[in-house]
Amino acid sequence: MASSTDQRICFSLCLFLFLFLHLSTSTTDTPIPAPWPEQFHSVLFINRSGTLQKTDLWYDWPNGRNFNIIQYQQGVLKYDLEWNNGTSFIYTLDPFNRTCKKLHFDVGILRPNWLEGAKYLGQEYADNFLCNVWEKADFIWYHEDVLTRRPVKWIFLTSGMVSHVMTFEVGAVLEDEHWQAPVYCFSKSEPEPRLHNIMSSSLLDLEAAGGDAHGFRQTLISEW
Ligand SMILES: *[C@@H]1O[C@H](CO)[C@@H](O)[C@H](O)[C@H]1NC(C)=O
Ligand SMILES: *[C@@H]1O[C@H](CO)[C@@H](O)[C@H](O)[C@H]1NC(C)=O
Ligand SMILES: *[C@@H]1O[C@H](CO)[C@@H](O)[C@H](O)[C@H]1NC(C)=O
Repeated sequence: MASSTDQRICFSLCLFLFLFLHLSTSTTDTPIPAPWPEQFHSVLFINRSGTLQKTDLWYDWPNGRNFNIIQYQQGVLKYDLEWNNGTSFIYTLDPFNRTCKKLHFDVGILRPNWLEGAKYLGQEYADNFLCNVWEKADFIWYHEDVLTRRPVKWIFLTSGMVSHVMTFEVGAVLEDEHWQAPVYCFSKSEPEPRLHNIMSSSLLDLEAAGGDAHGFRQTLISEW
């Protein structure tokens, strides 16, 4: 008899403790986004006001580099290679016309903790995943899967460009040989465009190519 009373007391205590802990953690902890892994590969489907593109994103923080390889729907394949020293090369390769633009940014690539300090907006379904949603710097809404904490979708508020994360391979690294901009990015025979030319001509191009990615890091990193 004594032991069954003991068991009942213990059960009540345990239940109480469980509820207490459960409530205290679920009411006081605002979710925070997972930092980005130091290296990953992600395939993104991007819709920019009805213009579709598929982007291979190779994020490589330890090597100070970030690559967007952008396939426009039935269009060109464009390479946007960004170094942490602020230099970006935006180029096309054969069989497309050989073009290259070299840009300089005052800030490097996104840091793995760039989402720190984002404002929590709550939960909603995005692409059929239950997600936590944050807003960062009035610039982006970031959706992260509640279960796996992988990014699912992000939206640039300025342009309405929506990125859907199709794959997210943590630890995947693109071999060094692919991080080499083509020789015509370095050609001295052609006159070096002046900075304001680079900026003004590239704005249109970047607008089409992924200017958001640049505005994005400019905005987000300049906060630090
Ligand atoms: C792309 O976004 C536009 C709105 O900007 C929408 O009307 C269209 O249906 C979307 N396309 C696809 C394939 O999701
Ligand atoms: C930044 O690094 C890249 C890759 O090493 C190099 O090609 C580029 O010239 C560098 N830019 C500057 C401003 O040093
Ligand atoms: C490639 O270059 C040719 C010759 O300059 C030009 O006529 C054509 O429009 C260019 N194609 C693209 C996709 O830029």
